[in-house]
Amino acid sequence: EKGGFPHYMLKEIYEQPWVLENTLGGRLREEEGDVDLGLALDPREVERVHMVACGTAAYAGLYGKYLLEALARVPVEWDVASEYRYRDPVVDGKTLAIAISQSGETIDTLEGIREAKGKGARTLGVVNAKGSSLTREVDEVLYIHAGPEIGVASTKAYLAMLAAMALLAVRFGRARGTLSREAAQGLLREMRKLPRLVEEVLEQRPLVAHIAEKYHQAQDFLFLGRHVQTPTAYEGALKLKEISYIHAEAYPAGEMKHGPIALIDEHLPVVVLATRGPLYEKTLSNIQEVRARGGKVIAIATQGDEEIAKLAQDVLYVPEVHPLLAPIVSVVPLQLLAYEVAVLLGRDVDQPRNLAKSVTVE
Ligand code: F6R
Repeated sequence: EKGGFPHYMLKEIYEQPWVLENTLGGRLREEEGDVDLGLALDPREVERVHMVACGTAAYAGLYGKYLLEALARVPVEWDVASEYRYRDPVVDGKTLAIAISQSGETIDTLEGIREAKGKGARTLGVVNAKGSSLTREVDEVLYIHAGPEIGVASTKAYLAMLAAMALLAVRFGRARGTLSREAAQGLLREMRKLPRLVEEVLEQRPLVAHIAEKYHQAQDFLFLGRHVQTPTAYEGALKLKEISYIHAEAYPAGEMKHGPIALIDEHLPVVVLATRGPLYEKTLSNIQEVRARGGKVIAIATQGDEEIAKLAQDVLYVPEVHPLLAPIVSVVPLQLLAYEVAVLLGRDVDQPRNLAKSVTVE
């Protein structure tokens, strides 16, 4: 049932091209420059969005915040659900609370959405598990169609959630008049390519395994990214922690000099999301700062970027894609890195200690 793979996690990582096809496939309308999500909700009636989720799903929500703000100019608040539910959020009838969940059973997420609903918000669930509790709590559901996820560490559900966030942002942008038809068409063409691009990334597994071999004895890892790649950094660090038990921290790269830079020495591998985009040059300076202090840099960079190879010890290339979609291809090598490191350390990849697939108690 693992389809010839040694672990569910690896099988699920390899299913990702197909999963993206499922999440996006029938919904893209290139001609019109729009997407069809089958939702009754009118994005023009939404004045603010609250993202509510936990763990990996929360990082997908953070990506959604960047995208919705960039493409639809709607203000988005983002919290982990365990904070949201107790912070007495300011909510009204023009608030859309979006809960994101693979299982649809995470108690904090369910309670967060109940809190928003109780205060008059409209609610949308971005969910994988059909008929789960969350789908019954929300006004409407956008299924991510990732198929059953068995590995405790979430991989394919994350990619599908990111794709769902991109779909939502395009729909909101079009409905609210902040995204032109041409710009949307450009994005949709790029989205259509994603399954194939992820396929290409998966071919890099031998190189990822080589990098894992080099660094798997490290005590700590630092992950850095900016803008849409900030959630990618968080997710990369979470995956590594969860299944290898190596301590990993993630920071928005620009925040590094406000503290974490003190950690950097020759023993600290620093994974930097350095794909091409508006903040590329800034990220290069962050890499230089790490190198100047002896840190080892593993860069995730855009195919064809020669410059980065001169700065970083190791480079994992991902295919070129619209900068707002880069997280969808960039997280894949980080999933593989966590996997390869965990296997080298002899960890139980599919059943990491202390973790449950769905957290139904507080
Ligand atoms: C990470 C992981 C957890 C879940 C979190 C939310 O690999 O599995 O962080 O993402 O518990 O779970 P769902 O999406 O089911 O609400």
